[in-house]
Amino acid sequence: MLKHRCQFLCVCCFCFVTLALSWSQNKQFDQVMNYEGSSDLVDLQYHMGPVLASPIKLYIIWYGHWNPTQQATIRDFLYSLSSSSSSYPSVSDWWRTVRLYTDQTGSNITGNIVLSGEFYDSKYSHGGYLSRLAVQSVIKTAVTAYPRALPLNPHNGLYLVLTSPDVRVQDFCRAVCGFHYFTFPNIVGVTVPYAWVGHSGTQCPGVCAYPFAWPNYSGKPPPSTNGGNNIMRAPNGDVGADGMISVIAHELAEVSSNPLVNAWYAGDDPTAPTEIADLCVGVYGTGGGGGYVGKVYKDSWGSGYNVNGVKGRRFLVQWVWNPVKKRCFGPNAAD
Ligand SMILES: *[C@@H]1O[C@H](CO)[C@@H](O)[C@H](O)[C@H]1NC(C)=O
Ligand SMILES: *[C@@H]1O[C@H](CO)[C@@H](O)[C@H](O)[C@H]1NC(C)=O
Repeated sequence: MLKHRCQFLCVCCFCFVTLALSWSQNKQFDQVMNYEGSSDLVDLQYHMGPVLASPIKLYIIWYGHWNPTQQATIRDFLYSLSSSSSSYPSVSDWWRTVRLYTDQTGSNITGNIVLSGEFYDSKYSHGGYLSRLAVQSVIKTAVTAYPRALPLNPHNGLYLVLTSPDVRVQDFCRAVCGFHYFTFPNIVGVTVPYAWVGHSGTQCPGVCAYPFAWPNYSGKPPPSTNGGNNIMRAPNGDVGADGMISVIAHELAEVSSNPLVNAWYAGDDPTAPTEIADLCVGVYGTGGGGGYVGKVYKDSWGSGYNVNGVKGRRFLVQWVWNPVKKRCFGPNAAD
């Protein structure tokens, strides 16, 4: 087990490198992973482990220097996951696809996700650069802080570590935009699932805030952008935060369906699983994939979105694999 620890730390990533590479190499766009209509290629399997079936208590750790506007956008997205008050298609309608996954007792993933605590690590407790493992130390710091520690909740807690635009994280921008895993008892005291997502606004919007930015170092803009002139506008006005929303959605879907990395994934290699959101990276609507976001809505400012949230918010969230339809799916699907 120890032997695999390092390898395990390298899994469960959200990876846009395929996209970026295909642009930089100026190759055929159809090389990018897109399984929307090709279920034969996908061998998503259940490996008998738990899913997050109990109501989730979500705890945010804001690491670094955050502006309140960015925080409000992200918070409203998280509130939207369980809200029934937004009009269709909503964020909670999007989560319905995630809820189709069950464990071996037949329990579905929960639809109840409650933001239950926030911790401000504005002093960069573990520095301006975090290794993957150091993210667990950040959680440790938050649950042991005095006086306002986050609860350490091994029963139904889920910890979301969000790093501000200036914080560098191991593999951030090069290989990952976010990842999920579970804590080790010798660091945090218990095993709890967690996810990390970085704000890519200054470091790599073209990699991690697609499609609100594109990797312009690569030379060739994606085909749907009219030569790079029609980059999609971010619905909440912050490319980095709006880009984070989809990555947060991606990681929440995956940590819920594969919290201990032994439940739902495709591929033979448990150290490099392809999970339910990995299968649909870059797909936001019907016809998406291969550099096309697919059919999404535009608001009156020309910003792209595909789901509604609380307080009239709109978000653009990638699709996830639907195990019943056996294809990538979201509530804004045309069929
Ligand atoms: C639970 O999952 C099963 C199997 O995917 C599905 O048929 C059912 O509709 C799900 N229930 C809910 C509440 O999503
Ligand atoms: C890429 O975009 C960044 C930020 O928008 C800009 O500063 C830079 O000059 C651009 N590079 C190229 C080659 O267009």
